[in-house]
Amino acid sequence: MVETIQWIDDAVVMIDQTKLPLEETYVTCRTYEEVARAIRDMIIRGAPAIGVAAAMGVALGVLHAGERDLDRQVETICATLAATRPTAVNLFWAIDRMKRLYASLRGAAPAEVRRRMVEEALRVREEDIAICREIGRNGAPLVPDHKTVLTHCNAGALATAGYGTALGVIRAAIESGKTVDVFADETRPFLQGARLTVWELQQDHIPTTLITDNMAGHFLKSGRIGCVVVGADRIAANGDVANKVGTYSVAVLAKENNVPFFVAAPISTLDLTLESGDAIPIEQRAAAEVTHVYGRQMAPTGTAVQNPAFDVTPARYVSGIITERGVARAPYEESLRKLMG
Ligand code: MRU
Repeated sequence: MVETIQWIDDAVVMIDQTKLPLEETYVTCRTYEEVARAIRDMIIRGAPAIGVAAAMGVALGVLHAGERDLDRQVETICATLAATRPTAVNLFWAIDRMKRLYASLRGAAPAEVRRRMVEEALRVREEDIAICREIGRNGAPLVPDHKTVLTHCNAGALATAGYGTALGVIRAAIESGKTVDVFADETRPFLQGARLTVWELQQDHIPTTLITDNMAGHFLKSGRIGCVVVGADRIAANGDVANKVGTYSVAVLAKENNVPFFVAAPISTLDLTLESGDAIPIEQRAAAEVTHVYGRQMAPTGTAVQNPAFDVTPARYVSGIITERGVARAPYEESLRKLMG
């Protein structure tokens, strides 16, 4: 399995997801600023992976911080990392977790603070892998045998510390003996499906077919697709799901064609402080991602562009939310609260 993010010799090493699938190269971040840049530039992406990177970024920042006025430095480190991407709540969840640990270490010797912060970041990574395995175990029974699973974007090993959420469910279904193949939406404009999902499933020899996003309706109508499984960047208290732009269209088409639409995500993706998906901040990205493909201009110079990176799928389209603690079903206000504990 691919190593998405590791802590090696007091540095954070990530596979460069902007270069896949043509090049398998690794980026080494030695400062928290470099980690922040890697998140912003999408060298690492996917909600859980962003959370792990942020935790390691905070640890790296504390490791290299001077001993004077450490509190203020920690504030700056956390604020810098928090300003990278707005939608995936795992980023803020991980930073808060690191902040809470730091606050609990008040009065401890500086060397002890540094050691404990690094240990915690490594724990966030290890836990993420275990959580993905649990999500897989809980989701595998929902995947129909001898059918195709449609997915959108990349919610795989590359989007987590390993194994994946949506792709973890597919992996677990196959490990449980089911015969499953995958249709991957290419996921314009950043092409996470074409570049990342297809690449990582090929590494695991999972039969995968690439389709363009606008083909999803055609195949959902065909009877070939047994279910849709996608990841999430933030889930509101009512079960509305923010995920990669295009997810909403897939969900509506799935419902229209009576195909179950599942969301696989860790509990850290729940944001029960938000009543509905309307309050989820949606990242707007550069126009060039839409007007250009691989650096080549496709649209007339000066074209007006909108480029929201995520959309919100209303809870009524979601057949179930698969977490490490079980599968939540509608009404989500109750089921998600119960899972949250
Ligand atoms: O912009 P990205 O590539 O970070 O968006 C990723 C997604 O939308 C994923 O589906 C989501 O983060 C879940 S990853 C397990």
